[in-house]
Amino acid sequence: HQFTMSSSEQTFIAIKPDGVQRGLIGPIISRFESRGFKLVAIKLTVPTKEHLEKHYEDLSSKPFFPGLIAYMGSGPVCAMVWEGRDAVKTGRVLLGATNPAASAPGTIRGDYAIDVGRNVCHGSDAVESAKKEIALWFKPEEVQSWKAAQFDWIY
Ligand code: PPS
Repeated sequence: HQFTMSSSEQTFIAIKPDGVQRGLIGPIISRFESRGFKLVAIKLTVPTKEHLEKHYEDLSSKPFFPGLIAYMGSGPVCAMVWEGRDAVKTGRVLLGATNPAASAPGTIRGDYAIDVGRNVCHGSDAVESAKKEIALWFKPEEVQSWKAAQFDWIY
């Protein structure tokens, strides 16, 4: 049992406006839950331009930046924090490659997306960026700490 040590990593996962509008909140949450991750924060929000420019600040020089910001601010995003062992790395595996053309079938993007500019979901790419993103999207009191007996059977 290494519950407190290695299963407490958190990652920021967002279902983008296309995913919300296509009715993919349920299927995406379901994949994270059934894999054994724990939902500790969730909200539907239409992010402001300023908020998205902060979230994607490392990409500000990319040609696709303005389009990415417009797309992400075009409707509600389902922002979440998921917790569990290697949540950042394994979360990215569940999402699939950033470009859906390269995402394996069985992954979220590999099953639901075909265009990199409409790739349904976002996941933190490293533990450090997860911390930054969680702090940007959630107040500390919006992130719950809870434990179900079920997790004793997973870890
Ligand atoms: S890069 O260029 O390597 O830094 O980009 P990458 O790590 O592959 O992707 C970073 C985020 O930018 C999004 N992206 C795009 N959006 C719109 N159009 C195009 N062409 C495009 N290319 C990359 C990509 O989905 C990543 O967003 P998140 O939200 O992190 O998935």
